[in-house]
Amino acid sequence: MAAMVGSSDWGGKAGLLLGLSVVLGQGDSVSGVVCYCDGHCPDNAENGTCIGQIGSQCFSAVEEVYIRETNTFEAERTYGCLPPDEQGFMQCKGHLVPHRQGKSILCCNNTDLCNKHLNPNYIVRSTPRPSLGYDDTIPTIALIVSITVCLIVFLLIVTFVYLRFKRREDRRRLCLMQNTHNCDPYLANSGTLQELIDQSSGSGSGLPLLVQRTIAKQIQMVQSIGKGRYGEVWLARWRGEKVAVKVFFTTEEASWFRETEIYQTVLMRHENILGFIAADIKGTGSWTQMLLITDYHENGSLHDYLQTHVLDTSSLLSLALSAASGVAHLHTEIFGTRGKPAISHRDIKSKNILVKRNGQCAIADFGLAVRYISESNEIDIAPNTRVGTRRYMAPEVLDESLNTTAFESFKMADMYSLGLVFWEMCRRCATGDKLSTAEDYQLPYFDCVHSDPSFEDMHEVVCIKRIRPQIPTRWQSEEVLRTLAKVMQECWHPNPVVRLTALRVKKTLCKLDADSTVKIV
Ligand SMILES: *[C@@H]1O[C@H](CO)[C@@H](O)[C@H](O)[C@H]1NC(C)=O
Ligand SMILES: *[C@@H]1O[C@H](CO)[C@@H](O)[C@H](O)[C@H]1NC(C)=O
Repeated sequence: MAAMVGSSDWGGKAGLLLGLSVVLGQGDSVSGVVCYCDGHCPDNAENGTCIGQIGSQCFSAVEEVYIRETNTFEAERTYGCLPPDEQGFMQCKGHLVPHRQGKSILCCNNTDLCNKHLNPNYIVRSTPRPSLGYDDTIPTIALIVSITVCLIVFLLIVTFVYLRFKRREDRRRLCLMQNTHNCDPYLANSGTLQELIDQSSGSGSGLPLLVQRTIAKQIQMVQSIGKGRYGEVWLARWRGEKVAVKVFFTTEEASWFRETEIYQTVLMRHENILGFIAADIKGTGSWTQMLLITDYHENGSLHDYLQTHVLDTSSLLSLALSAASGVAHLHTEIFGTRGKPAISHRDIKSKNILVKRNGQCAIADFGLAVRYISESNEIDIAPNTRVGTRRYMAPEVLDESLNTTAFESFKMADMYSLGLVFWEMCRRCATGDKLSTAEDYQLPYFDCVHSDPSFEDMHEVVCIKRIRPQIPTRWQSEEVLRTLAKVMQECWHPNPVVRLTALRVKKTLCKLDADSTVKIV
C-alpha cells in the first residue's frame, strides 16, 4: 500500500525527527517494519535503516532545494520511518490538502525497505527564486538601514530649522503686534552699536527710526560734559557703551531738526565725520526734549585738546589732513541713484571738531549745514535763525556779499574757517626737540577782538583792516608747518574764488604725509 502525499505541513523536518526519535528511541521489543533511511536516520540506526513500531510507515520524501551557485533547484530526497501516531498518519494523508510546489512524500509499509525505491512525484517549480542569497542580503540590508538613517537625520534637520525660523517669526510678529520697542527684532539679536550700524547702513543714512527711538529710550545719562548756545552735551551709556547725547534747548528745535536731517543724509558716514547713532524727541505738550545721540570721543573737542597737548609734526599732519578729509567728504556731491548731496557746514571751528583716540578729527555740529543737489540746482537753506560763529565768519559773510544762490560760495566760506582752524593747530606744534617752541593756545584774532566779538568788530578787523592771524617765522623751518602756513593763507584769501578747495588741501597734505612716511622708512 502506498499513498502519495504532498503535504502542506510536512516541511518541518525538526518535528519529523522529534517524532521519529520518540518512536524509534527504544521500541525494539515490539518492532514493525524496517525502513530504508537517509537524512532522517535516528541516532541508533544501523546500515542506513530504521525500525518502526507496529503500525509505522516508511516514507520517501522529496523537496526541491535552492542552489545559490547555479541559481537553480535540485531535488533532495530523504527516507525514513514515520511513527504510527496522528502526525505520521496525517503526513501520509497530506494529499487531501492542495499540492504545494516543489515537495512531496510517499509512504508504504508492505515490505521491509519498501520505501527505497519509492519515487514521489512533485510539481517542479517553474522559476528559480530570485537570487537573494545570504551574502546578497547583507549589503541590501545595510543599504536599507543607511537610507532610513539618512532620512531620519534629514527629517530631524528640517524640523529643527523650521522650529528656529518659526520662533524668530513669532517674536517678530509679537513685536509688530505689541508695537513695543523693547523687543525690536533689530535690537533683540544685536550686539554693539557698531554691529547695529554696520547691519543697517547699506544706505549710509543711519539706523531705522524705530531703532533710533528704542536706543534713545534705553540711554542712561552719566554726566554733563559741555554746554553751548544750542544746549548741553552729556556723556551717557547705552548697554554699557559710552555715547554722547546732545540735549537741545526747546528754542533750538530748528537746529535739532536740521542736524538730524543732515545726519540722515545718504552716504553721510565717514571716518572724519562724527558718527551719528540716533535722534529722538521726547515729552508732551509744552515740555519737549530733543536728543541727538552720537559717538563719544573722550579726547573732546579740538579746542580743548589743543590747550593741553603740544603736537609733533606727524600728529599735526594727522589732525590737519583728517579735518580736510572730513570737509572734503561733506563738500563732495556723489552722483547716482543713492547719491550724496554736497553739504556745506557753515560753522566750522575748533569747538565743532572732535579729536578721536587715533589722533584724527571728526567734524561735528551740523545745525547750520546746507545741502545742494546739482540736478535740481536747489540749495536747501534750513529755516534757522542761528548764524555761524562770528569769530570764524568769512569776509563775504561779514560784509553780506555772499551770493546765497551759488552753492560754491558756501563751500568757499567753509574753507576760510578751516584755514583759521589750521592756524590754531599749527601754533601748538613744536619744532626741533623742544616742546617749549610751540606757541600757547589761542583763538583766531585773539589779539584783535575780545572774547565775544560783535558782528561789527569782526567786520572791521577782517573786511576793513584786512587783518589775518600772524604766521610765526619759526614755522618756515619745518616742512609740515611751512606747507600748512601756505595752505591756510590760501584758505583765508579775501577773494573767495581763489581759495583752495577742501579736495585740493587734502591732496596737498596727503602728498606731505606720503613724503614724511617715506623719509621715516
Ligand atoms: C585720548 O585720550 C586717551 C585717554 O585719555 C589717551 O590714551 C589717548 O592717547 C588720547 N588720544 C590722543 C590722540 O591724544
Ligand atoms: C549769484 O550766483 C548765481 C548762480 O551762480 C548767478 O547767476 C548770479 O549772477 C550771482 N549773483 C551775483 C550778484 O554775483
